[in-house]
Amino acid sequence: MAPLLDSGERLTRVELEALQLERLRATLRHAYDNVGFYRRAFDAAGLRPEDCESLADLARFPFTAKADLRDNYPFGMFAVEESRVRRIHASSGTTGLPTVVGYTARDLDTWADVMARSIRAAGGRPGHKVHVAYGYGLFTGGLGAHYGAERLGCTVIPASGGMTARQVRLITDFRPEVIMVTPSYMLTLLDEFERQGVDPRSTSLKVGIFGAEPWTEAMRREIEERCGIDAVDIYGLSEVMGPGVAQECVEAKGALTVWEDHFYPEVVDPFTGEVLPEGEEGELVLTSLTREAMPVVRYRTRDLTRLLPGDARVFRRMAKVTGRSDDMVILRGVNLFPTQIEEIVLRTPAVAPHFQLRLTREGRLDALTVRAEARAGATPEQRAEAAIMIAAAVKDGVGVSVAVEVVDPETLERSVGKIRRIVDLREVTG
Ligand code: DLL
Repeated sequence: MAPLLDSGERLTRVELEALQLERLRATLRHAYDNVGFYRRAFDAAGLRPEDCESLADLARFPFTAKADLRDNYPFGMFAVEESRVRRIHASSGTTGLPTVVGYTARDLDTWADVMARSIRAAGGRPGHKVHVAYGYGLFTGGLGAHYGAERLGCTVIPASGGMTARQVRLITDFRPEVIMVTPSYMLTLLDEFERQGVDPRSTSLKVGIFGAEPWTEAMRREIEERCGIDAVDIYGLSEVMGPGVAQECVEAKGALTVWEDHFYPEVVDPFTGEVLPEGEEGELVLTSLTREAMPVVRYRTRDLTRLLPGDARVFRRMAKVTGRSDDMVILRGVNLFPTQIEEIVLRTPAVAPHFQLRLTREGRLDALTVRAEARAGATPEQRAEAAIMIAAAVKDGVGVSVAVEVVDPETLERSVGKIRRIVDLREVTG
């Protein structure tokens, strides 16, 4: 079935690129005129906004990093009077100051539009009920999903994160077609359904829109099979807007369509900053094209992905994010991402889809222990065999030796939002 498209999605490539260039030039001008940080950065590079004469010229402009946002805490990156800012979000940041983002009324409107488009691309329709279990608050997940679902004409159930037993009750009683939640919290919910003796396949849910953290094809299969839904990926980050920068379309799973009329993507070599050709993996860099309160120019997301050609829509797509460069563990010279371990754990029969990576230091070397949870009823022999299988698969697939502990069922911490896969004990053990 052909997907439903809005007018932005029906542009031709030529029309889209003309619109992008016009919006890009306006964004550079707006940033330069109104944000001291951008004025200084462009001046230092000897560039004026009007030097951007083609989309390729953007590559001449300097990057913006998370540290730049922190250095301008709290409102130094705003490009409008504070009185025009209608909402503020912030990302918690595990260390140091949070990064703060502001939205004008028009920004909130744009955000609701791209989120409505995302939910529709995922298979949501006006009249559907949408259970939002992303956290509400300074995190962009809850409110971003909320206003997008309302914009599409859905009924929103603003459950937020936590109180898992109650979530299951609400889903059973209110009968939503769509759920929006992190994939790791979806697993917590599925376990709770089973604990309450409810078959998750018997619920009203048809579509799950999962994001805010990396997840794999193996996780998609796990969730789709256990719940009988279509599980699709949504990507975004607060610095650039929130959820709704890119969305996997339900009829073409495997990559996410970037809403390129609002967010201009580049993929660069994380070390040299060189723009990479389509199809090569590197760090995603995003430039906002329509934001008023806080335009971002060449924001380095640290997320690793590839740009791909579009399919049913004019926009380019991006591959599922493999991980953040910050979450990459370097173990005896080998790079390892939690998603690689996820693939392996999820195909190992005697263990549940819950795992944690523990980093320690032994002498001068880092060591990694994969802690995976046994499935209820797994025998000691099956558990021992699972540990051997996981260690061998990591050695074969990733090329490094790790220790594996298969722990008792229900012992690893459960996610209620974004899961923390890596527990870094190197300071303690070194
Ligand atoms: O996580 C926004 C969001 C909310 C996206 C709900 C999707 C759904 P932040 O808290 O600023 O914003 O975190 C952004 O999360 O740079 C990625 O590293 C990661 N991330 C977000 N979506 C995905 C995804 C929200 N689909 C950071 N796959 C980003 C992989 C993701 N990583």
